[in-house]
Amino acid sequence: MPTDPYVATTMFWSSAALLALVQLCVANPLLLKRWDDFGVKHAWAEIPRGWELHGPAPADYTFDMRIGLKQDKFDELVTSLYEVSDPAHERYGQHLSKEEVAALVAPHPDSVDLVESWLSAHGLDPASSQRSHAGDFVTIRVSVAQAEKMLGTQYNVYRHGKSDDYVIRTMNYSLPNVLHEHVTVVAPTTYFSTMKSMKATSFVQEDGPTIESDADVAHLLKGPHSLATVPTSCNTVITPACLRALYNTTTYVPKAIAKNSLGVAGYLDEFANRADLQTFFSRFRTDAVGGTFTTVKVNGGGDDQTDPGVEANLDIQYTEGISFPTPNVYYSTGGSPPFNPDSNTPTNTNEPYLDWLNFIASQTTIPQTFTTSYGDDEQTVPLDYATTVCNLFAQLGARGSSIMFSSGDDGVGAGDCLTNDGKNTKHFQPNFPASCPFVTTVGGTIRVNPEVAVSFSGGGFSNYFARPSYQSTAVSTFLTKLGSTNAGQFNTTGRAYPDVAAQGQGFQVVIGGRVGSVGGTSASSPTFAGVIALLNDFRLSQGKASLGFLNPLIYSTGVPGFNDITSGSNPGCGTNGFTAGAGWDPVTGLGTPDFGKLQALIG
Ligand SMILES: *[C@@H]1O[C@H](CO)[C@@H](O)[C@H](O)[C@H]1NC(C)=O
Ligand SMILES: *[C@@H]1O[C@H](CO)[C@@H](O)[C@H](O)[C@H]1NC(C)=O
Ligand SMILES: *[C@@H]1O[C@H](CO)[C@@H](O)[C@H](O)[C@H]1NC(C)=O
Repeated sequence: MPTDPYVATTMFWSSAALLALVQLCVANPLLLKRWDDFGVKHAWAEIPRGWELHGPAPADYTFDMRIGLKQDKFDELVTSLYEVSDPAHERYGQHLSKEEVAALVAPHPDSVDLVESWLSAHGLDPASSQRSHAGDFVTIRVSVAQAEKMLGTQYNVYRHGKSDDYVIRTMNYSLPNVLHEHVTVVAPTTYFSTMKSMKATSFVQEDGPTIESDADVAHLLKGPHSLATVPTSCNTVITPACLRALYNTTTYVPKAIAKNSLGVAGYLDEFANRADLQTFFSRFRTDAVGGTFTTVKVNGGGDDQTDPGVEANLDIQYTEGISFPTPNVYYSTGGSPPFNPDSNTPTNTNEPYLDWLNFIASQTTIPQTFTTSYGDDEQTVPLDYATTVCNLFAQLGARGSSIMFSSGDDGVGAGDCLTNDGKNTKHFQPNFPASCPFVTTVGGTIRVNPEVAVSFSGGGFSNYFARPSYQSTAVSTFLTKLGSTNAGQFNTTGRAYPDVAAQGQGFQVVIGGRVGSVGGTSASSPTFAGVIALLNDFRLSQGKASLGFLNPLIYSTGVPGFNDITSGSNPGCGTNGFTAGAGWDPVTGLGTPDFGKLQALIG
């Protein structure tokens, strides 16, 4: 198993300084005491739904504790992000380098000092820790007994009913009060997601229609067309030819393939299959036969070519189906257990987003376009964890990457939509990371001539993140039209999503050599990312910067580059949800992309 590749540097604290600190702590009970003066960092009111308490965690079980340090100049990073992403700003396109970003997100030396002495006070050797590229994450191997003392808590083994996964987590954790303004998050603690229980937002449509090749729609590849020529077969069966026609990319030939790339983030047990991609190309995009992708394994992620994943194959077949011959990269993020499991011990301490994000942050060159089709209900992700992860996406935007996420497949919320704050009130359930203001969230559509919203398209308003200014006009216009509909069910001041949309049902995907029909906004996000990768190709081929963080552009000068989707709705939580209409709406955002028009707007 490779060691954590995101760790670019391992920092060794001076052992003399360390010794001095240890002596100081031992000698001075007041200093010791401050590490026992706790304030709660995050607490759940009840065990997260779907999980059950299995028993106390073994005291000697060890795991890697990741400590997020406050990013000292994060406000400056956000200011830079908005300036370099705003087409009206003089800094537009002047993206930051890895080192420039690192300088802004590095912790203050005081934060490092304090965390160091905290570790030492608990008998940990800070020299054994690993640090992220910017130094904003410290990772150190601890025992359950040590972690419990450090965080004033008790760790337990919890079982996820559906997947039968076991994890070590805690219902709440505290930090010494002196650390609260220096530490953003400690993981694993109260974030209960595991790889398997992370809800991949794709589903195989058991009775979905399938076709074996693209002969029906292939004539669309031959030349300019109008939307009216998108064949009626695309109403039920989606292939790359449908999407290329619908989104107006058919005639574009990528020219910047030496500089441009598209990244697909995938997680444990989802492997993108090479043979299936060839079969897919031979059926649905014959000019791309022989085209391939690179798999990058992050934190022990695998690449089992005998075990093709529905999500992974969907993602890579459609990003490549649209962006070919742009190089595509599949990130397989794992996390092999650091111990020999037995029947009573858990096998998983993964913190998926942090592993992947820290890996990407350590890379000098990163793809200009990313897509991720995973998410959770926002309320199941602790606020401290969600904020830390969301802020990491801001770094990628500042470096010039466009980050797409699926909006979710439950409309405004699945099931009873009860809050988990102990009050059990009914409330629309936004998704995370869809709700993060630093990503571009993609909802779903169905049918052609015209496209309409697909009923499962996730949409709504964050309860964690305030509405960013780039969408304030679009969203307040919508809210005014909405009036009192759904009042009290959603947070009118929150970041609203999706931002955009793309087709989300009937996708023909080759899995294990066979064509299946797959749906979900996890089809929409790779589709939209494929179009963005072509726009980035166009920008780069003109000697211009990549598009980077898209939202300031798409909510301003980019608006005419979208096909506004004006009918359909996204019911959920026992309501009719929201309704798509003229302008932005929380079902399909600004609409679906018209590559030709966007190309003219960004030229
Ligand atoms: C933390 O969780 C434990 C149960 O594991 C509970 O007894 C305790 O009251 C909780 N503390 C807070 C602050 O919620
Ligand atoms: C509504 O969203 C804001 C952020 O805009 C947040 O501060 C507030 O706590 C949210 N309210 C509820 C009830 O979740
Ligand atoms: C498609 O792109 C072309 C330019 O390539 C543009 O003229 C046209 O308006 C776009 N939209 C449609 C629906 O054809």
